[in-house]
Amino acid sequence: MSTDKIVLQAEDLKVSFPVRRAGHSTTVQAVRGVDIRLRAGETLGLVGESGSGKSTLARALMRLIPSEGTVKFDGLDVSHLKSGAFRKERKRIQMVFQDPYSSLNPSLTVGASIAEPLKVHTKLSSAERAQRISEVLTLVGLNADYADRYPDEFSGGQRQRIAIARAIVLNPEVLVCDEAVSALDVSTQNQVINLLEELRDKIGLSYLFISHDLAVVRHISDYVAVMYLGEIVEEGPVDRIFEAAAHPYTQVLLNAVPVPDPVAQRATTKLLLRGDIPDPTNPPSGCAFHQRCPFAMAICAQTAPPKVEIPGGGAAKCHLHTSGPVLAGRPINSLTEAEITAETATGKDGSAGESLAAASMPAPSRVTVPGRPESSL
Ligand SMILES: Nc1ncnc2c1ncn2[C@@H]1O[C@H](COP(=O)(O)OP(=O)(O)OP(=O)(O)O)[C@@H](O)[C@H]1O
Ligand code: SF4
Ligand SMILES: [Mg+2]
Repeated sequence: MSTDKIVLQAEDLKVSFPVRRAGHSTTVQAVRGVDIRLRAGETLGLVGESGSGKSTLARALMRLIPSEGTVKFDGLDVSHLKSGAFRKERKRIQMVFQDPYSSLNPSLTVGASIAEPLKVHTKLSSAERAQRISEVLTLVGLNADYADRYPDEFSGGQRQRIAIARAIVLNPEVLVCDEAVSALDVSTQNQVINLLEELRDKIGLSYLFISHDLAVVRHISDYVAVMYLGEIVEEGPVDRIFEAAAHPYTQVLLNAVPVPDPVAQRATTKLLLRGDIPDPTNPPSGCAFHQRCPFAMAICAQTAPPKVEIPGGGAAKCHLHTSGPVLAGRPINSLTEAEITAETATGKDGSAGESLAAASMPAPSRVTVPGRPESSL
């Protein structure tokens, strides 16, 4: 159960990587001013296309890479702590990756791998360490005797349990799971998700859960943040995001989830994601999604949308939710469906009409315009 205590927080977090493109030095703007808050006991799902900056954000939150902005662990600003002082705080937040081989040294026994963080961060005796290793192996549903075996003696699901045991051995407050179940088959995935949920209740963990699998994110998360080209474009309680997404990007991401029933699939006209994610060395002006957005208006290419609170919880960065964009001299959110259709068909306003025409998207029908139930554009 989540509480009001904020265990992990970032304000205006930015990460850029110097790269060379076509013989020139430039900068990948991987994270562009992210604010994020994780409450105690909460699972925060982080979704977005490949390359949107999810892993970079996670690594910056853990201070594994340099960043600008503020990161707070349990209210303590750790952004500028020197490495010695930060070492004491590092154990509060741990990470589990997609491939447990990357965190488990195949030449070390399971026990030796789990003992490593205990040796670095605690003064436990070897008997106390052995006791703690048995405890965490049991907690993750494994036999305590497995401590003497090597990682390659285990299945993928068991190895991920070992990686989780290693991640929780120091009793962290937060576990960052970066595609932690993505490589597992469905039944093993379910078991590991059940384990994460059990651990949340038993030892009071909070999760930042990064996944491409929106069904898994919906199942496990309390709150969801949607990332696009280094920014959080929408966030909110999980049910509000999945049932009433406010940002067009969230809508197309959710629409990309296949419907199991082919008849139902054909009956649903989908709003599809067009084109590729833009070059992060040169993000588009205004709203970074404007070149791919079926609702783009003239203002979208010029002015970055502010963060606006959304009824039902959370916020979105989109001009459709501000009073800013106008069509035929009136705020677009106040127009009827027929008025929008008439204006965009003629483009006489010169804003939405032009940009929708220029978008040359496949004729969309019965799409959900944020802020209104259904519309035919
Ligand atoms: N070390 C690096 N040097 C240069 N560019 C990088 C580096 N790490 C990440 N990037 C770039 O930063 C952007 C964000 O990458 P990141 O790996 O965070 O995305 P992601 O959302 O985790 O993607 P995926 O879903 O594929 O894991 C991408 O454009 C990526 O190419
Ligand atoms: S601000 Fe404009 S381009 Fe961006 S998501 Fe909203 S409508 Fe689309
Ligand atoms: Mg990633």
